[in-house]
Amino acid sequence: MLPIRECVNQTPGYVPGEQPQTTDYIKLNTNENPYPPPDKIFDTLQQELTKVRLYPDPVSTQLRKAASKVFGVSYNNILAGNGSDDILNIAVRTFVNPGETVAFLDLTYSLYETIAKVHGALIKTIPTNENFELDGPLICPEAKLVFLASPNPPLGKHLNREYLEETCKQATGIVLIDEAYIDFSDENHWDFLEKYDNVIISRTMSKSYSLAGMRVGFAISSLGIIEQMDKVRDSYNLDRIAQTLGSNCFEFQDYFKQIWQQVRNTRTRLTNSLKNLDFLVFDSDANFVLASPQWIAASELYTKLKEQKVLVRHFKHPRINNYVRISIGTDPEIDRLLEVINKLKNAT
Ligand SMILES: Cc1ncc(COP(=O)(O)O)c(C=O)c1O
Repeated sequence: MLPIRECVNQTPGYVPGEQPQTTDYIKLNTNENPYPPPDKIFDTLQQELTKVRLYPDPVSTQLRKAASKVFGVSYNNILAGNGSDDILNIAVRTFVNPGETVAFLDLTYSLYETIAKVHGALIKTIPTNENFELDGPLICPEAKLVFLASPNPPLGKHLNREYLEETCKQATGIVLIDEAYIDFSDENHWDFLEKYDNVIISRTMSKSYSLAGMRVGFAISSLGIIEQMDKVRDSYNLDRIAQTLGSNCFEFQDYFKQIWQQVRNTRTRLTNSLKNLDFLVFDSDANFVLASPQWIAASELYTKLKEQKVLVRHFKHPRINNYVRISIGTDPEIDRLLEVINKLKNAT
């Protein structure tokens, strides 16, 4: 028998969205940004490539300084992660002993469950209501760590602000607010950081800054929290290229703001078009929408779209297995998606 920890053996493992090995798909399944970063971010890359023999800056100084200008906090209050997934992992390992509790919603980013379980933590899931939303503050006195994403996948809506604030106020442990999709909305939760000393905000460059392939994320919190998390992270958790491209991207705020607006415009158009095609669709604050076709099983729609080289996400979770989650693509990509759906609908 191999000496595998029981909690690892018992965990099925995280199932990421499909990354096809060919480029002929319209990829609307993993909430990437459909627009590339500006070419100029690669200008200093060659210089970096000549230094690959040397370890990168262990504490990602330039990147954190660039982030600090955008986030409006000192770089000492920022920890850089290898994607925000790294930040979530570091949080579990910093604040939760095996056998202690991590709490999150029953429908949310499914990685929270995986990283808590493989750590040997107990998990407490808080039910969302029939609209997949919080029904009140998340009260779980035994939780050492609460994960709350706002906007929350797979719905894509912000959590109710008052409930969220009450959760921070009443929590006895840490509350990590995952703002992965924040730039596609008008709200953020910086004020909670100022008011509550148990709050961490996580951010990523994967979605709004078009760098999913580079793995750049952040934790923003008080010095006391960041200093402890810093001890837990891998010593060189971001490579040279990620640090360089991440820092460079932050310089192009106007470019990215334009893209975020474009994604929001397309999101509105997609939502309305799907409604006209007899889908139940929720308004979204993120770069994806959750939609349920009323004339075909969602699993079948997923398969038929895939046959036509359009990839969306279908989840087996019983509460949402009649929905598909569609990432916002470019306008031509969304046109093609709608064209295929239209044909499928006319054929039923
Ligand atoms: C809520 C949420 N948080 C974090 C992530 C992961 O982000 P990253 O690419 O920075 O690891 C995702 C990715 O889908 C997500 O949906």
